[in-house]
Amino acid sequence: MEQVGRARTLTAMPGAAGAAAVGLALSSPYWLPRALVALRVRVFAAVNGPEGVVVPNDRVGPEEFLRLYADPAADGRSRGAGLSDLFWYWLSPGPEVHQEHLEPGPRYAAVARTTNAILAGASTELSARAAACAARVLDELVPGDATLVRLRDLMMPVWAEFFHELVFHEPCPPAVRDLITGNARDVVDSLKNTRLRHMRRRERLTRHLLRRLAAGEVPHDLPAELPTDRDKAHYLQGTFFNTAVVQMSEAMAHLLLALAEHPRVQSRCRDRGADGGYDERYLGHVMNEALRRYPLFGIAHRITSARIETGGGVGYPAGTVLCFDYPAYHATGTDRPDDFDPGRWEHLSARDAHHIPFGVAANRPCPAWRLAPLVTRAVTHEVLDRFTLHSSVSHTRSIPHRAPCLLVRRGHQLPGHRLAAVRAFLRARDRWEDVGRSLLQLGLGTAMVLHARRLRPATTYFAHHDAQGRPLHPADAPGDTGAGGQDAARRCPYPH
Ligand code: HEM
Repeated sequence: MEQVGRARTLTAMPGAAGAAAVGLALSSPYWLPRALVALRVRVFAAVNGPEGVVVPNDRVGPEEFLRLYADPAADGRSRGAGLSDLFWYWLSPGPEVHQEHLEPGPRYAAVARTTNAILAGASTELSARAAACAARVLDELVPGDATLVRLRDLMMPVWAEFFHELVFHEPCPPAVRDLITGNARDVVDSLKNTRLRHMRRRERLTRHLLRRLAAGEVPHDLPAELPTDRDKAHYLQGTFFNTAVVQMSEAMAHLLLALAEHPRVQSRCRDRGADGGYDERYLGHVMNEALRRYPLFGIAHRITSARIETGGGVGYPAGTVLCFDYPAYHATGTDRPDDFDPGRWEHLSARDAHHIPFGVAANRPCPAWRLAPLVTRAVTHEVLDRFTLHSSVSHTRSIPHRAPCLLVRRGHQLPGHRLAAVRAFLRARDRWEDVGRSLLQLGLGTAMVLHARRLRPATTYFAHHDAQGRPLHPADAPGDTGAGGQDAARRCPYPH
């Protein structure tokens, strides 16, 4: 009896185990990506060491968060934070002259002034320029009546052309547009761990910028505090052909994906009123809501240069890495923070809301805080004038799928059943891509974190330079071609 019983159990086991395995595999799109992301975060923390103090937290509420962010002693950017090696690795080449990474002082002030000057201009002119770039790119890249696109990829050439025009005051040739989008894609994909970084691709753009600088073809006064042409090329590349192109493409991808997934919001943004104009106020609410719900920065960090007391017995000593958590801060101060609800802005002013999409005015805010909303609005109108947007994919802040979407030309009708089929296809493909992508991200992310830890770009730089980029050792000084110079070349990897 016992034997029969055991035999029955044994034959039943594979069936049960098999069913469980099949169930596990089929349900993997629902749990595996999340588990892998959590594992990646743990791997990063293990390799990088403690991450610093994340605020808001139990002791630092939303009001205190803003005071802490604006504190004059929360001013260090790179030196002394383990995180910096990783950011410098991803934003290479030239992370040592990227505005985001410069320590406060005359060099930072000169670079920030130059960026502001390049981004300045009359609103109508900037909007018209952005609209023209969008019109050209959309007409070139989306010729059909119904086209599946990834919104981030579609937006990159728009912003490559736009920022090329701002920097060079002339249209962007197709080959240069490819160089810029190749560079920007490489940076953002490696940041999201969906691809390894390819320095050769990025250096092709650096060489192009060096040629233009040597030919005197950059119509701006670039900071004397960046002494070499290579420094200047890296500054232009990092700020305008990496950060600007990436941030604008990501912001547009979030906004357009949200419109694709909220058809009523989309119609209201597209439809013209009785006076023939758009409801610009409502579009403003939608843009605010997209940046609230999907802030481009997950965390911005500062290294404290002196002790900061936050009251209630809480204080942070000099050298603390403060990590300002944007999604957590944005989620406070409003009801149902996880909903995408532009209507909340009817009774919530950007001033009163816990809303800092461009950082805080007192502490190195984004230099594009005025330009970005202007040009986003102009490009959104160009898209909505041409297409109806449909999507059903997941929408997360990190948006690693690059926002798959169906664009249907306005005036062209797609039968309801075909639209439903496309939406079902997008949803299913997204789920399964997520499984493969999260495995890839775990592998590539780990490889890059280990590589960055080996190279230690920020730590190495500050072993040889002060906070203003001046060599610490005579042997590291520029122009030293003697034995000391060769020795310096061996010791310090940063060209002067
Ligand atoms: C919608 C688009 C954008 C958003 C939401 C955004 C957001 C931000 C945020 C939150 C910060 C501050 C982070 C901190 O406190 O450390 C920042 C900094 C910065 N952003 Fe943007 N950004 C956008 C577009 C741009 C563009 C178009 C540029 C073009 C140059 C740009 C260049 C920079 C630079 C250089 C910094 C560093 C500022 C400094 O440290 O002085 N951003 N951005």
